[in-house]
Amino acid sequence: VHWSAEEKQLIATVWGKVSVEECGAEALARLLIVYPWTQRFFDNFGNLSSPTAIIGNPKVRAHGKKVLTSFGEAIKNLDNIKPTFSKLSELHCEKLHVDPENFRLLGDILIIVLAAHFGRDFTPACQATWQKLVGVVAHALAYKYH
Ligand code: HEM
Repeated sequence: VHWSAEEKQLIATVWGKVSVEECGAEALARLLIVYPWTQRFFDNFGNLSSPTAIIGNPKVRAHGKKVLTSFGEAIKNLDNIKPTFSKLSELHCEKLHVDPENFRLLGDILIIVLAAHFGRDFTPACQATWQKLVGVVAHALAYKYH
């Protein structure tokens, strides 16, 4: 995967303003609400019985932050995303048995969270670059499945 200087800039500009705590929690909560079948991976997280419960669930918040922080590793290693996520791919595939389709869903959710946060500043060019990024991350996480 090649990243142009413009793309790197668009990624860095947005990422510099992202709160992994806030956006991570929101993204995971939205995933669980919008695609409820994803809840089955988190049956040890306690109360996920309604959108309010999910949004207020401290385990969802903490795990969302963990996931988005980990996503940040991809941004720090743009030219090396596959090796960076090799261990995580193994974990999600062999131990957790997460269907890789869910990585795409979470990526799209993250785009929506960013659009909601940054409004018009999240320009079409910006979205295009982030769409590419979440695609590459999903692909890297799915790597060990093949
Ligand atoms: C655990 C990252 C997507 C399900 C984790 C961990 C990280 C992570 C860093 C913690 C690993 C550890 O404790 O060593 C990511 C990233 C994702 C992603 C970067 C995509 C951008 C998903 C999706 C699902 C999922 C879509 C399911 C729908 C899980 C589960 C755990 C986990 C069930 C274990 C949770 C626990 O009980 O602590 N993930 N993940 N992940 N992930 Fe993901």
